Formats: sequence, structure tokens, C-alpha cells
Amino acid sequence: MKIFIDTANINEIQMANDWGVIDGVTTNPTLIAKENRDFNEVVREIISIVNGPISLEVISIQSEEMVNEAIKMSELSTNVVIKIPMTPEGLKAVKILNARNIKTNVTLVFSVNQAILAAKAGATYVSPFIGRLDDIGHDGMQIVRDMVTIFNTYNFQTEIIVASIRHPLHVIEAAKAGAHVATIPFNVIEKMFSHPLTDAGLNKFLSDWKKVPK
Ligand code: G3P
Repeated sequence: MKIFIDTANINEIQMANDWGVIDGVTTNPTLIAKENRDFNEVVREIISIVNGPISLEVISIQSEEMVNEAIKMSELSTNVVIKIPMTPEGLKAVKILNARNIKTNVTLVFSVNQAILAAKAGATYVSPFIGRLDDIGHDGMQIVRDMVTIFNTYNFQTEIIVASIRHPLHVIEAAKAGAHVATIPFNVIEKMFSHPLTDAGLNKFLSDWKKVPK
């Protein structure tokens, strides 16, 4: 399973990239707004750090305008993937962009039916939002399991990005389900590193090393 980082924060992206654990980046308008910086500047910096797919979201809601936005953004780098909302207008745009070889990531997906439609329209990626489903009392990961089964059955080429990840268990469940990608917030990646036995073991090794005659 590939790991993308779900953030527009340059320090977080730089750190995770230096750790060698990320394959790409996903952003959305909320994450961009959080940085309170010029959009193009942020995007240029992300592109200079990460050599992998970088999802940037359109803010138009009409297909023609989405396509125009997408073409402009895709000129920034061949790594740019255009995030398109899961609407009829959005899928119209996906079909057009697919024909122009521009990669897309259909976002705000909350059901298996939505994912099937996005795949049929030719989306490169589809992003089910797991945490937000869990938040309203649904089993978010179940739609990922169903999507994997269906996509495999019909050999759909669309890759599943598990998004809206809230904790490390979501990452394990996404991997067990066979998702292609998990897009993970920085704080969850940090949590994936830590184990008290690693800390205790390292402390012991370091203190024992001091006892070695030198
Ligand atoms: O980037 C899309 C998704 O990961 C958003 O997550 O935490 O706002 O539900 P969240």
C-alpha cells in the first residue's frame, strides 16, 4: 500500500519525505486555507520536495470551469493529480480530463455506488472518506472493503485512496482491506512510529553501551 501525506504544510511534507515513508501528497481547500499562504507558492514548494502524485483540488462546481482549472494546475508538474468532487458535473470533468491524460482523484466519496460511478467515468483515484463516516456512526472501512472486492472483480484500473484517516488503526485496516493508498495526516504518521518497547529498548542499549570499556 502506498502512503500519501494528507497536508499542505511544507514542514510536515519535508519531514515525512526525509523519513522516506511517503509516496505522494493530498491536499484540499481546507488544508490549503490552514496554511494562510499563497496557493501557487505552497504548490510549487510541494512539487519541489515530493516526487510522486500531488492532489490539488478544483474549487469550481461546473464541469467546464473545473476542466479549465485542472488544465492550468496540471501544467505545474506531471505529478499533479486533479481532485474533483463526486458530483455529476465532477464526473463530466473527469471524463474530459481522462481523455486529455490528466490524472484525477474523485473526492468526497461516501458510498460504494459513488466509487463505481467515478471508476466508470475514468477516475485515476477515488477517495472514500472513512473518518467522516465513522463520525456519523457508520463503519467507514466497510465501504473500502466492498470497493476493493468490486474493483478487483471487474479489474477496474481506478486506485482507492483511503482518506479522512484519524488514527493508526485506520491505516492497518486500509492495508488489510487491500486499498492501493492511504492518505494520512502528519500526526498519525508520527503515531505509527512510536512504540514504548522501542523507546525502552533503545534507552537500555544506550545505557549498556556506556558500560562497555573504551
Ligand atoms: O483530504 C481529504 C480527507 O482526508 C479529509 O479528512 O479529517 O477532514 O475528514 P478529514
